[in-house]
Amino acid sequence: MIQIAPSILSADFTRIADSVKMAEDAGADLIHVDVMDGHFVPNLTSGPELVAALKDKTTLPLDVHLMVENPGLFIPLFQEAGADWISIHIEASVHLHQDISSIKEKGQRAGLVLNPATPIHLMNEIIQDLDFVLLMTVNPGWGGQGFIESCHKKIRHLKNWLTGQKLEIPIQVDGGIKLDNLEEIIQDGADIIVMGSGIYKEEDPSEVIKTIKSLVKEYEKP
Ligand code: DX5
Ligand code: ZN
Repeated sequence: MIQIAPSILSADFTRIADSVKMAEDAGADLIHVDVMDGHFVPNLTSGPELVAALKDKTTLPLDVHLMVENPGLFIPLFQEAGADWISIHIEASVHLHQDISSIKEKGQRAGLVLNPATPIHLMNEIIQDLDFVLLMTVNPGWGGQGFIESCHKKIRHLKNWLTGQKLEIPIQVDGGIKLDNLEEIIQDGADIIVMGSGIYKEEDPSEVIKTIKSLVKEYEKP
């Protein structure tokens, strides 16, 4: 099943709870929360307080994407705040096995994120432990950037690599995804679609989510 994860990074920050509720009502599957520390990426966003504040505003899983140095320091804070999925960057984690294990120990789904130029084979020794892989399709730091075209090949490569090992680990993709490139990205093998500006900067965000849901349904018909 293909899932849609609106990224609230592009939502109206004065009305975040409404933006989340709108996404839920329109049929979104997850709420993607982007956490940036001003070190790993040159931008700052929000912390565990936002996750805690959203926890009782939605029944959807909160999918926290940590774009931070030393992710091991922050994982417990987001676990306590109520994150359901937590992903960390392979480029930022020194003790990767330990960090992934600590996410799973408390019951969250653990994801590993790769920047666009980070090779897939670096996941060799950890892939079996992951609940999902997140491929960045822009350089992390901001919403509203253009999809890096070479990432189509990378998504296909990852899909084949996983299939070759008989692993059914979902591929999440994040960055520059809009209605007009969505189908190609699904055909590449993406399972979970993160979309920020493509939803929240549109005139009718709810309609965009509904359109994606019906497109995905068509696509999944046998
Ligand atoms: C980028 C973030 C993304 C961002 C995507 O660093 O990880 O989740 O919100 O935004 P769009 O869909 O606008 O590229
Ligand atoms: Zn993200």
